[in-house]
Amino acid sequence: MSANISKEYTNGEITVVWKPNTCIHSEKCWRGLPGVFNPKSKPWIQVEGATAEELIAQVEKCPSGALTWYRNSEGKQKPESSEVKIEVFPNGPVRIHGDVEITHSNGAVEQRAKITALCRCGHSANKPYCDGTHKKIEWRE
Ligand code: FES
Repeated sequence: MSANISKEYTNGEITVVWKPNTCIHSEKCWRGLPGVFNPKSKPWIQVEGATAEELIAQVEKCPSGALTWYRNSEGKQKPESSEVKIEVFPNGPVRIHGDVEITHSNGAVEQRAKITALCRCGHSANKPYCDGTHKKIEWRE
């Protein structure tokens, strides 16, 4: 199990939160908003490259939940809904939408929010989470 690293980038209005260990490298962020998300830049997230609304729209498309956001005026808040939905992604992970508690095989308990992607191919180096390996190995169900 890897550490819960979290990095934040703010434009003063909103803050984009990135959890690298949750990222499944779907590439949706940098293909959708290349002026903000550029893996070749340091830092790789430049929030000045888009409006707050554009940032929110793109971050909401993150399939793994590695990217989230909050309004600085409201602070970090839990999602309003406690509803949990599970989605089996074609040739990829199982995605859990909602707040969940994961109990690892060593007994450690971890809280996850919004979206959690669980490995279904069996090849992730960050089990039980998907790390995008299914895409590299072209895993098919
Ligand atoms: S399903 Fe993504 S790494 Fe296994």
